[in-house]
Amino acid sequence: MSHEMDPASPPAPTPGKRKLRSQLWFDNPENPGMTALYIERYLNFGLTPGELRSGKPIIGIAQTGNDLSPCNRHHLELAKRVRDGILAMGGVPMEFPVHPIQETGKRPTAALDRNLAYLGLVETLYGYPLDGVVLTTGCDKTTPACIMAAATVNIPSIVLCGGPMLNGWHNNERTGSGTVVWKSREDLAAGNIDYEEFMEIVTSSAPSVGHCNTMGTASTMNALAEALGMTLPGCAAIPAPYRERGQIAYETGRRIVDMVWEDLKPSDIITREAIENSIVVNSAIGGSTNATIHINAIARHAGVPLQIEEWETIGHKIPLLVNMQPAGKYLGEEFHRAGGVPAVIAQLMEKGHIRENAMTVNGKPIGQNNKGRKIGDPDVITPIETPLRTDAGFIILKGNLFDNAVMKTSVISEEFAKRYLSNPTDPGAFEGRAIVFEGPEDYHHRIDDPSLEIDEHCMLFIRGTGPIGYPGGAEVVNMQPPTALIKKGVHALPCIGDGRQSGTSASPSILNASPEAAAGGGLALLKTGDRVRIDLHKRSANIMISEAELNERRTVLHAHGGFKYAGNQTPWQEIQRSMVDQFDEGMVLKPAVKYQRVAQS
Ligand code: FES
Ligand code: MG
Repeated sequence: MSHEMDPASPPAPTPGKRKLRSQLWFDNPENPGMTALYIERYLNFGLTPGELRSGKPIIGIAQTGNDLSPCNRHHLELAKRVRDGILAMGGVPMEFPVHPIQETGKRPTAALDRNLAYLGLVETLYGYPLDGVVLTTGCDKTTPACIMAAATVNIPSIVLCGGPMLNGWHNNERTGSGTVVWKSREDLAAGNIDYEEFMEIVTSSAPSVGHCNTMGTASTMNALAEALGMTLPGCAAIPAPYRERGQIAYETGRRIVDMVWEDLKPSDIITREAIENSIVVNSAIGGSTNATIHINAIARHAGVPLQIEEWETIGHKIPLLVNMQPAGKYLGEEFHRAGGVPAVIAQLMEKGHIRENAMTVNGKPIGQNNKGRKIGDPDVITPIETPLRTDAGFIILKGNLFDNAVMKTSVISEEFAKRYLSNPTDPGAFEGRAIVFEGPEDYHHRIDDPSLEIDEHCMLFIRGTGPIGYPGGAEVVNMQPPTALIKKGVHALPCIGDGRQSGTSASPSILNASPEAAAGGGLALLKTGDRVRIDLHKRSANIMISEAELNERRTVLHAHGGFKYAGNQTPWQEIQRSMVDQFDEGMVLKPAVKYQRVAQS
């Protein structure tokens, strides 16, 4: 794919049309002393004064890859091709690190660091002589952290996804990252496999560089970056090791230089229309429930109004088109070969689901970029006439347990639907006895405790796992039933909590409950043994006790000092807990939201 041949790239504009932001640092005759100081140290890696003072765009490469972040480490290589592209268009590349975030490596949660990486990147983009930036994305939180910062600062910005790993295989079956862990731990618990085989299966799912190859949060957020218009068309799905990945890194580097001359900024791209497109695409790809948190955060930093209920009003009726784990069968390589995000958007356009005029980083509207993009394999991306499921988007429940919580209905299994949703006189509703766990450690200690008498008529609750309770929010709501129950063939109980769930899990949990127990939510009042009624048709979730008794419990809780959760271990935990919003509000830092388009301020 060459720049000249790519129909998605407009012709390069004539450089030098406008004064660049970096010239405030590097070419300011009114303050020669400061200009000299700003310039001199940047010369010592070989740049010439001419390069810095001639009004060439200075392009940052926000590097999220490092040894601590293996999902994104490939960007260390890709950045070389980004540089080549920037240089080819007359820009000056300057690469700098982003605070590391590794989903599987960070304690207590990687989500705690999304806002920290955001803050660091805002300061870097604002405080240094950058005219534009290439955001390298991949692992779950790296993508929203980068886009949130770009929205806040509002200099020309383009996303380069790192791409998924190659497909994993074990015994001639696909092993999808994350998803295989949830499945295999059941087999391990049931005694079907031993510890060694468990390790072998799980590690087979990570066969190359790249991020999770399932439609977990990483593939989801990169697909949504493309749906938002923040990547070149087709960028999200290219597997990390494929040659096209290096090629699109080069094209991305070229394109950001043009974007600087065109002054095409995140505020031109991340509009209400773009946000709506991301919600629609999320339903069609079977995307992660974590997308609600991250897209809401991006919308808030971009100044786009968005309510959590709109995930249902905009997204629920959209059909599922992508047959990818955890909702389906395939992995990242097949998704790419089948046409990736452009083929999905083209299908959605046929039914008028896409806001086609939303602008994208290549300077063209999303409709124009994706119109007529073909499906390469209809088993992987289905035509919209024959979707895998209708009404595949999330539903939003509410009641006395929480103001709102999210449920991904596209992963409800036949077994689950038969057991809980097929009461002929009351379809879609079920009642059960609550078993309440105070966080993941408590769950692991007590789930197999016979005195709890957990049977298939129970619902598992977990609390103290939201943005404040377990700083950043723990991915723990998809709780496995007790071993004894799994051995009887019960693979899933209804799970409800104020934490999150891995995007790679196929559990139809009710999660992201807001407000969380630690912020005064009704979950804090629940007791093991309470009857709880969930009605998916009415979108309700209630403890079956009177208002008076709820108030009584609330009074007692307050008298005992409120809901208890573990103390802070680091300064950042304390700082974030003191100012973080709930999941439905994007888990943003409340004081940060008022700072918008700061490069223009
Ligand atoms: Fe990094 Fe899944 S753990 S992408
Ligand atoms: Mg995750």
